[in-house]
Amino acid sequence: MSVLSSLALPHVAKLHAYTPGLQPTEPGWVKLNTNECPYGPSPRVAEALRRETGEDGASLRLYPNPKSSPLRAAIAQHHGHGLSAENVIVGNGSDDILNLLVRAFCTREAAAGFTFPSYSLYPVLVEIQDGQSQVIEFDRAMKLPLDRIAESKARAFFLTSPNAPTGVSFTNDELERVLASFPGLLVVDEAYAPFARENAISLLAAHPRLVVVRTLSKAYALAGIRVGYALAHPEIIDLLDRVRDSYNVNRLSQAAALAALGDTDYYTTVTARIKATRDRAIAEFKQRRGWFTYDSSANFIFTEPKNATGESGPAVSKAAYDFLCAHKILVRHFPSHALTASFLRISVGTDDEMLVLADTLDTWLKTQNA
Ligand SMILES: Cc1ncc(COP(=O)(O)O)c(C=O)c1O
Repeated sequence: MSVLSSLALPHVAKLHAYTPGLQPTEPGWVKLNTNECPYGPSPRVAEALRRETGEDGASLRLYPNPKSSPLRAAIAQHHGHGLSAENVIVGNGSDDILNLLVRAFCTREAAAGFTFPSYSLYPVLVEIQDGQSQVIEFDRAMKLPLDRIAESKARAFFLTSPNAPTGVSFTNDELERVLASFPGLLVVDEAYAPFARENAISLLAAHPRLVVVRTLSKAYALAGIRVGYALAHPEIIDLLDRVRDSYNVNRLSQAAALAALGDTDYYTTVTARIKATRDRAIAEFKQRRGWFTYDSSANFIFTEPKNATGESGPAVSKAAYDFLCAHKILVRHFPSHALTASFLRISVGTDDEMLVLADTLDTWLKTQNA
């Protein structure tokens, strides 16, 4: 270990940082690897950004609203269900919110629980705090292991619904069963809930130990603006506010998010389009190709490629990944675990992008026959 690393806290010196999906800088890629929205945000967003900066950017001299107060009120109103600004905290992306939750509730003695597979940032956030993780593995059916969550000694359990990278969602009935049997904080990471049939927001009023986390990065086409939020009991929001950076959401992001939330019609149309493309693509993977594919409630698809001779497995999915990559189509491959290694996670793009994907996969299969 170098002298500089040996000066760092031991858990930091051995920390493995989160690996984000590739963000190529050169043009020409079909980018289906980080679940961004294939369509732009509401036109009201660009207008709001222009208004916020003005001609000369003078407003940028000033710090933003420290609590993102107007945005908290707008989020509460947007969701209804009797929520008010006291039930909302806004973050620099939902990653910021997840970090605050780990910082406030989890340590070595108070484990953070989560499933595998799920969002791979959770264990990294726990390591940053030198905390303890309790991991509950799914089996291939990806059904919620209710008993094992109930028995876990976690202080806070992070459940992704719809789950990543499978797209499988959990019902409110299942979440209520978790809340009835697990005594800690239940954090439901709903990054992809706008693409699902059901969400947990209606459960908040009756369940003070429930936290729902949302993002504007996916359904709102604002990954670049970094806004996410949590909905929870005011006491939990107050605890999170104590460990938050004082100006954690910048002025432009607050303005952009407010504008986006005000354009429900635009986003209803975009979400419906993405869901229709997703459902067509799932049908194609299952029926035309005969590939095992989870029923996704998200804006991505987890599918197990078969090669020309009908075999699947980690080598086959890696070959498909490499072929797509060589043809400038980026998807995601998670080779490090048996539950994920034989699959590809494919973000839902535009219809045209999905056609390019389908044609390229056909070429991959033909190349093997040649
Ligand atoms: C399950 C899940 N939660 C949270 C996030 C982070 O979103 P944000 O861009 O709001 O930080 C992601 C991003 O991929 C995700 O997949």
